[in-house]
Amino acid sequence: MNSVGLIGGTGDLGTALAVHLAKKYEMVTIGSRNAKRAEATVKTIIEEKGTRDSLVQHLKFASNADAILTSSVVIATIPFENSVETIQNLSRFFHRGQILISAVASLSKVGDEFIIPTNSNSIAIQVKSIVPQGVEVASAFQTVPASILYKEKQILADVPVAAESFETYKKVAELVSSIDGLRPLFLGGLHHSAQVEGLTCLLLNIGKRNNLKSPTLRINCF
Ligand SMILES: NC(=O)c1ccc[n+]([C@@H]2O[C@H](COP(=O)([O-])OP(=O)(O)OC[C@H]3O[C@@H](n4cnc5c(N)ncnc54)[C@H](OP(=O)(O)O)[C@@H]3O)[C@@H](O)[C@H]2O)c1
Repeated sequence: MNSVGLIGGTGDLGTALAVHLAKKYEMVTIGSRNAKRAEATVKTIIEEKGTRDSLVQHLKFASNADAILTSSVVIATIPFENSVETIQNLSRFFHRGQILISAVASLSKVGDEFIIPTNSNSIAIQVKSIVPQGVEVASAFQTVPASILYKEKQILADVPVAAESFETYKKVAELVSSIDGLRPLFLGGLHHSAQVEGLTCLLLNIGKRNNLKSPTLRINCF
């Protein structure tokens, strides 16, 4: 597990994850519908963060299709509305043995509040039925605020992971733990992924109503 590809990696979450994952993984490919946009994103990251080795040597850019073809782990960081259609269009580029992590949150904005669209099934479950057999699917990162991660501020956050098997969870947990301050927590099988996908909505509404910036999840035990 040494190469990570980000579908829609040019966005807020994709760039934030790329900055951290490049510290631990030899090849982190920012994917885009337009490879030129991915190239510009890599350039911007290096301009903003400086020419440190992890970024200069490990960050790559490609079309979404090439990011999938060249990666052992693929993370989908694309908007909810287009997520299933996007994966459908890219499904032929996946191959057996890969891990696909969906970071997609079930979320729409209505007026000044966020809601979970009621007519949608879990994205991860839908995606599992689309990708070729042998691609292991999980759901994670929905509770991690991209802006804090990108700024590399100190963070302490729990990352619930729903995965199709405990073996898949362990591989995803390794990737999550590679980012300082993130603690993976196993939620259970993929049938639980709707719970994870709905957490962003909860956090954003609580943040808005209570004036809390960049809310995240941290489980306390007593
Ligand atoms: N932002 C956060 O803090 C955060 C935290 C946790 C989870 N999430 C979830 O992670 C996902 C990505 O969030 P984000 O804030 O990074 O989103 P974003 O910046 O709005 O979009 C990410 C990327 O998706 C691609 N994209 C946009 N429209 C598309 C379409 N119609 N079809 C295919 N690709 C499209 C774009 O890349 P190209 O134009 O280069 O193809 C864009 O840069 C969302 O599902 C979000 O709910 C976000």
